[in-house]
Amino acid sequence: MHFEHLILHKETKSATIVLNRPKALNAIHEGLLHDLKTVVAYLEKASDILVVVIRGQGEKAFAAGADIAAMCDMNSKQAEAFSKHGGDVFTSIEHSKKPYIAAVHGFALGGGCELAMACDLIYASKTARFGLPEVTLGVIPGFGGTQRLMRRIGIAQAKELIYTGKTIKADEAFSLRLVNQWFDVDTCEALMEKVTTTTEMICKAGPCAIAQAKQVIHQGQSVSLEQGMALEQNRFGALFDTHDLKEGMTAFLNKKTAQFHGK
Ligand code: CAA
Repeated sequence: MHFEHLILHKETKSATIVLNRPKALNAIHEGLLHDLKTVVAYLEKASDILVVVIRGQGEKAFAAGADIAAMCDMNSKQAEAFSKHGGDVFTSIEHSKKPYIAAVHGFALGGGCELAMACDLIYASKTARFGLPEVTLGVIPGFGGTQRLMRRIGIAQAKELIYTGKTIKADEAFSLRLVNQWFDVDTCEALMEKVTTTTEMICKAGPCAIAQAKQVIHQGQSVSLEQGMALEQNRFGALFDTHDLKEGMTAFLNKKTAQFHGK
């Protein structure tokens, strides 16, 4: 598959989406959003792909935000539509049945940070810089940042980052629990090697179970504990109708490695 603004690498069982506008620090414009929408929909249907990694092209940025040059002359209707377009694409990542991992090397600012937060896991190199600097441009985060940041790190810390627009390093992002882990590496390639450890572990698990876990955790965020428990019990039961579950449990009892087929 060919895209104008991103590159798709398919490996065995995993895929990497590379945001490919390095001259603009991978800033996100309509064209990139369109490509992202297409690739996410394509990967959702690709039964051989179990986990997806997103990274930026080049050593300098994951993505330095929405494209300021493209936004500068928008009127309010166009800006709202752009915000909705980005919001919808990022939500399709959050709603995907496959885990998405953001591998952040360099700047993840504004829309770049928002894209990372739509992913399930965020791994960072020591060069990573996070922030939502939108207020310094006279605007607010528009691709879900006001909503996802507070859900990840709590309302007080989210307000501080959003009101100040400050940029934080990988270790501080880890302390705030914005990122899962940061690694003492300074190249994108070295970060990707670290990320591979996690992708390989996810690829060995049962795809139906991973999909259900993702969905139940996500839905559980916005319901009561009782409703969340009921959801979990229902999905736990549903997995007993899958071949994957029989395969996983039988393999364990026979001291073999399970061969899952995602059904
Ligand atoms: N949009 C468009 N172009 C961008 C960009 C962005 N968000 N970020 C960087 N670029 C471009 C620069 O204009 C520059 O282009 P030229 O070479 O043609 O001049 C190129 O990328 C390299 O950037 P810099 O020269 O600025 O690089 P630097 O190392 O000096 O600074 C930086 C790096 C601190 C990340 C700086 O580029 C910067 O502050 N970028 C903007 C970050 C930002 O404000 N992001 C939020 C955008 S608004 C948003 O995201 C709204 C939303 O939620 C939907």
